[in-house]
Amino acid sequence: MKNIAILGSTGSIGKNTLEVISRHRDKFRVTALAVKNNVSILEEQIAEFKPDVVAVFDEAAAGRLRKKNPSVKILSGEQGMIDVATLDGVETVVSAIVGSPGLVPTLEAIKAGKDIALATKEALVMAGHLVMSEALKRGVSIIPVDSEHSAVFQCLEGRDMEEVEKIVLTASGGPFLKKSVQELMNVTPAEALNHPNWNMGKKISIDSATLMNKGLEVIEARWLFNIPVEKIGVILHPQSIIHSMVRFIDGSVIAQMSVPDMKGPISYALSYPERFSNVLPPLNLAEIKELTFEDPDINKYPALALTYNALNAGGTMPCVMNAANEIAVEAFLSEKISFTKISRVVSDTMAEHKVMKGNTIEEIISASEWAKQRAGEFVDKN
Ligand SMILES: NC(=O)c1ccc[n+]([C@@H]2O[C@H](COP(=O)([O-])OP(=O)(O)OC[C@H]3O[C@@H](n4cnc5c(N)ncnc54)[C@H](OP(=O)(O)O)[C@@H]3O)[C@@H](O)[C@H]2O)c1
Repeated sequence: MKNIAILGSTGSIGKNTLEVISRHRDKFRVTALAVKNNVSILEEQIAEFKPDVVAVFDEAAAGRLRKKNPSVKILSGEQGMIDVATLDGVETVVSAIVGSPGLVPTLEAIKAGKDIALATKEALVMAGHLVMSEALKRGVSIIPVDSEHSAVFQCLEGRDMEEVEKIVLTASGGPFLKKSVQELMNVTPAEALNHPNWNMGKKISIDSATLMNKGLEVIEARWLFNIPVEKIGVILHPQSIIHSMVRFIDGSVIAQMSVPDMKGPISYALSYPERFSNVLPPLNLAEIKELTFEDPDINKYPALALTYNALNAGGTMPCVMNAANEIAVEAFLSEKISFTKISRVVSDTMAEHKVMKGNTIEEIISASEWAKQRAGEFVDKN
C-alpha cells in the first residue's frame, strides 16, 4: 500500500488522480490533500477518501471547514501546504497546484525524500536547476504527469541519452489553430477556454491557446531529461493521439500514443514501473483514420519563441517569464487585456529583467515577485 499526498486535489489533475486511486484502493491510500479554497469539493473528498490531514491555503476557508469538520486535522496557509508535502509516512506527493504557488511545497517534498508525480510544470520552469539537483541529492524520483513528458519518459525507458537526437513535443494547437493572427485579437476568454481535446484547469487552457503551455513544457523537458534546448522541438498535431516522440541517432523515432485522457499519464506516474490494466479505452486508429502534423507559426504563437529566449538567457529569466504569464493570463480571464496582449505583457516584462543566477530559492521567489508586479503595471497601462 503506497501512501499518497495530493497537492491541488480539487483541480482537474487532482480529481483525475483521485479517480485513478479509487480504482486501485488496494494499492494506494490517500493520506493527505491540499487545496487553495475550494472547501466544498474538499469536503466530498474527505468523506470519500478519509485522509489523515488536509490543508487549505486560504485561512478563512480553512476556518469554515474546521467549524463543519471538528474531527478532521485541517492545516492552513503556505505552511499547511509544506506540512502536507512533507508528511511522515507519505511516499509519493502528487504535485498538482497550478502555477508558482506549487514550487515551494514541491521542493520541500523533495527535500523530505518524497517521490514526486509532477504535474506542476511551473516548478521546473521557475527553478529546474534547484529542483533537479535537490532530487538527485536525495535520490528522489520525479515522474512526469504532463502527457507529453510521460510520453517522452516512456519512449526513453532503457535508452542511453547519448543516443537521443531530438525530443519532439506534440501540441494540439488549442482552440485557435484555424484562426488567423488578425482574428486572434478579438477572441474571448470563453472561446480560449474551450479546448478541443482536453478538459483542463483555466490557466493551462489559456496557456494551451497561446502555446505558452508548450513553451513551459520545453523548459520542463530540458530539466526533466537533462537535455539541451537545441534538442527539443515542437510540432502541431491537432488530434492529440501521439503525446510526444523521441528521434534517435539512427533516425528511428519512438512515439507514445493513446486516447487523450490524463488518467493515462497519472496512472503511469503512480504505478511506475508497473502498468495498471483498464486505465484507458483502447486506441482505435482505424476509426481515427488521420493523424496530421504541421510546424507551429511563430508569428501566431509568439509565446513559444519567448520560452526559447528565456531558456537561452538562463538564470531567473524563465521564472520571470512564468510569473509575467500568470499575471497576463489572469488579466485576460478578467477581460482587462486582449488575448494577443498576453505575450506582449510577458515580453515587455522580460525585456526589463536583469538576469540573476537564481541559485537560491529566495532569489527565484524575489524574481517572480518582481515580475508579477511589473507585469501588473503593464496590464494597468493597457
Ligand atoms: N489539467 C490538465 O490536464 C493538466 C495536464 C498537464 C499538466 N497540468 C499541470 O497541472 C497543474 C494543475 O493544473 P490543473 O489543470 O489541474 O489546474 P486547476 O484545475 O486550476 O486546479 C488547480 C489546483 O491547485 C489548487 N491551488 C491553486 N492555487 C493554490 C495555492 N496557492 N495553494 C494551494 N493550492 C492551490 C487549486 O485549489 P482550489 O480548487 O481550492 O482553487 C486546485 O486544487 C498545472 O501546473 C498544469 O500546468 C495539467
